[in-house]
Amino acid sequence: MNYLTLYRQWRPQTFSEVVGQKNTVTGLRNAVREGKLAHAYLFFGPRGSGKTSVAKIMAKAVNCSQPGSGEPCNTCPACCDINNGSFMDVLEIDAASNRGIDEIRDLREKVRVLPAQGKKKVYIIDEVHMLTTEAFNALLKTLEEPPDSVIFILATTEAHRVPATVLSRCQRYAFTRLSISEVIDRLRDVAAQMQINVTDQALELMARRSNGSLRDALSIMEQCIAFRDHDIDESQVMDVLGLVNHEALSAIFKGMLEQKIEEVIVHLNSLIKQGKEPVQIARDAALCARDLMQYTVLNKRADLLVMPGEDLEEIISQYPGLTASRLSQVTKHLLKLADELRFNEGQRFIMEVGFLEAMEYMADSKSGSDKALVVQETGKQKKPRRGGPDPSLKWEEIMEKVKSIKVTTHALLVPAAMLGLADGVLTLGYRPELKFHREKMEEKVNQEVLLSALEEVLGYPVDVELVTLEETAEQPQVVRKAIEIFGKDKVKIIE
Ligand SMILES: Nc1ncnc2c1ncn2[C@@H]1O[C@H](COP(=O)(O)OP(=O)(O)O)[C@@H](O)[C@H]1O
Ligand SMILES: [Mg+2]
Ligand SMILES: [Zn+2]
Repeated sequence: MNYLTLYRQWRPQTFSEVVGQKNTVTGLRNAVREGKLAHAYLFFGPRGSGKTSVAKIMAKAVNCSQPGSGEPCNTCPACCDINNGSFMDVLEIDAASNRGIDEIRDLREKVRVLPAQGKKKVYIIDEVHMLTTEAFNALLKTLEEPPDSVIFILATTEAHRVPATVLSRCQRYAFTRLSISEVIDRLRDVAAQMQINVTDQALELMARRSNGSLRDALSIMEQCIAFRDHDIDESQVMDVLGLVNHEALSAIFKGMLEQKIEEVIVHLNSLIKQGKEPVQIARDAALCARDLMQYTVLNKRADLLVMPGEDLEEIISQYPGLTASRLSQVTKHLLKLADELRFNEGQRFIMEVGFLEAMEYMADSKSGSDKALVVQETGKQKKPRRGGPDPSLKWEEIMEKVKSIKVTTHALLVPAAMLGLADGVLTLGYRPELKFHREKMEEKVNQEVLLSALEEVLGYPVDVELVTLEETAEQPQVVRKAIEIFGKDKVKIIE
């Protein structure tokens, strides 16, 4: 059996089957019905929007022996032969191939020969912008004195690369990128006819990721069908595409917004463990930043590519200082990173540094106010950092106070080292193996207990900052790089 890729198998066969492109389709159908055909057409627009498909429908419609209302019948010998590629008077030329250029050269004589089989000879010249100057000139000569029995259909994704002399001889039709909902509807149709169950979320994800190209969307669905062992759901689409799920993206962005290097690195590590490629991680993060940017500006009207609106809503409400201009810098930076990673597959280090750099753009997003950022390398010194009164004398008292409010909070604080108070920030250090304690102490309930104990004992409110103590002198490369980027006193050293 001949294997046809899904997108070929589901090529629209009539004008009315074409998704979107309403004006184009109506215009062409009317022209066929009324016999008002031009000698040359130019179809331009993004890939996978239906240019080649419509060209073939047009070729059938003008040769069909029983065209009702401008549509090809798809049953007469001409339609059938065109459909299976054996019709002598429909010629497809791929301008991108060498053979295409030779074919254009011969065109001038060949177009004079009357159609052998049908009513019209139809030349479909795909990727026409790829023609050489010489070939364009040959084509132009033919277009200047076109024989009545010939129709040219030129198709291109890059109309601006077609010489004006050629453009002006063509009736031009713009093909537009299909909308997400148009793509979804078509995918749902195809799946239903193939009796394959696909969840709505999976359909939506495939549509979003195909960027308005139905061809790409159908290719994605085809891969999912090949790998499926049950109904197709969102997570399967993510696996097939190697995508990063939006929970992980949210977590990475929150880490960046909180200026928590360790959060960011931990989440990146776990994505790598799941087998995601650094380039895909960077690309998805760029899309996430872009979605955030749209959402800050357009809110519910945003056209989101990867992130659900609720996730964005949550992030934005927590970080009022997050502006569109900041996000556009982040987007740009992450796109550049993805580009860099394309040529450096597997370079985790570049990815990590790239994310740390992106983080820099996010600083101060929390409130717009200049909340004191993070710490310095901690080592073993227990001196207060930037001067300020040393509350170590009162530490026992503070601990007692904590204990009287909440015993479990006290337990979490026992193994912490009091590193000092500076600029209204009290710093506590945990050894790397006490990660659990540290994380629990980050939680709001425990923070509140400590803050109120501090205020009560010291007589004024202070902020608390938790850091992990680094015991070995040797720093991983990524940390050294982080220090290089942010400056030593902005970097918190983690295990
Ligand atoms: N507007 C559309 N309506 C229906 N199917 C489409 C449309 N655009 C693309 N497709 C699907 O994608 C495949 C490739 O489309 P094609 O016409 O070759 O796009 P283009 O020439 O614009 O790149 C088709 O076989 C069809 O399955
Ligand atoms: Mg095409
Ligand atoms: Zn027909």
